[in-house]
Amino acid sequence: MITSRGAMILGTGHALPERILTNSDLEKIVDTSDQWIVERTGIRQRHVVTPGTPLSELVIRAAERALADAGVNAADIDLIVLGSVTGDMKFPATACLVQEAIGAKHAAAFDLSAACSGFLYSYQVASALLATGNFKHALVLGGDVLTSMVDWSDRDTCVLFGDGAGAAVLAPSDGKRGLIYGCMHSNGAHAKLLYNPGGGSLHPPTHESIDAKQHAIRMEGREVFRHAVTSMAEALQEVLQKSSLTLNEIDLLIPHQANLRIIEALGKRFAISSDKVFINVDRLGNTSAGSIPIALDEALKSGRIVPGSTVAMVTFGAGFTWAAAAIRF
Ligand code: UT7
Repeated sequence: MITSRGAMILGTGHALPERILTNSDLEKIVDTSDQWIVERTGIRQRHVVTPGTPLSELVIRAAERALADAGVNAADIDLIVLGSVTGDMKFPATACLVQEAIGAKHAAAFDLSAACSGFLYSYQVASALLATGNFKHALVLGGDVLTSMVDWSDRDTCVLFGDGAGAAVLAPSDGKRGLIYGCMHSNGAHAKLLYNPGGGSLHPPTHESIDAKQHAIRMEGREVFRHAVTSMAEALQEVLQKSSLTLNEIDLLIPHQANLRIIEALGKRFAISSDKVFINVDRLGNTSAGSIPIALDEALKSGRIVPGSTVAMVTFGAGFTWAAAAIRF
């Protein structure tokens, strides 16, 4: 019998902007085609904010939905961890804005920067803090407004990303439900294969930095693709091995939703049947740290995860960072 020692999920929620940008909309602003985007990425549309909409708007909505789903009062949340790289401001942490907005008066709050791995990193950090006994309920959030740093004239990147956020309310495991095993990894040697150089202390904002488009996402897509498949496969293998789970015992795999071809390559390596793999990249594009918690909430609400389900999640993002987890519901 597998035991869960890490934090369990009491409730989830997510939030997406209403505005939808289709591939044919993109055809009008950049030299691309619906056919190329669908064939190379599987993406058909993405939700995008009205420019100037802050991340906190999405994250607060997701958090409120997760709290209602869990039946937990904001006043009983004592820890908020937000995985994101597109906070409202350089500081303070957007998690503090969430803390105030939802009325989590007793919560410590901080942001965690791990790009697309933000939610699985935050989950594991919150789980470890809950295990100290000093915290009773954690709100773990993942979300990004990557369109705020997209160069809309760069067809290599602008077709890939969407905006969105997800949330989960965590409590210490009851021994049956919760995190069975999780892993987190990084390799900064590849920092410049996927990054946003401008706006930090290295390149503070100047007219020159804007002209040089240093505030936009830069990515070597093919290299990132290769590393994503290899690293996610290794992390998933590690989780299966360390938790003594076979692939047959996994009811649903939730991979990071960056590119359908990456997901299919991962599925092929593990010979996992496609009905066990959750996919929403076609509707949402890559929502970065929002990807896993949005998918998780959709899977729960649509009944693809039920009490007793064992779910594996795996992700990869800038840093490079990557992470995986097996969770019993
Ligand atoms: O969240 C984690 C981080 N992100 C990822 O995991 C993304 C990983 N990478 C990818 O998903 C893929 O590498 C991309 C979707 C970004 C690109 O797909 P690819 O199959 O690796 O294409 P490519 O970069 O090798 O480009 C192939 C061709 C190039 O033209 P030439 O040089 O062969 O003439 C590109 O210029 O496709 C061209 N191209 C496009 N054509 C139409 C690149 N972007 C576009 C576009 N529309 N949007």
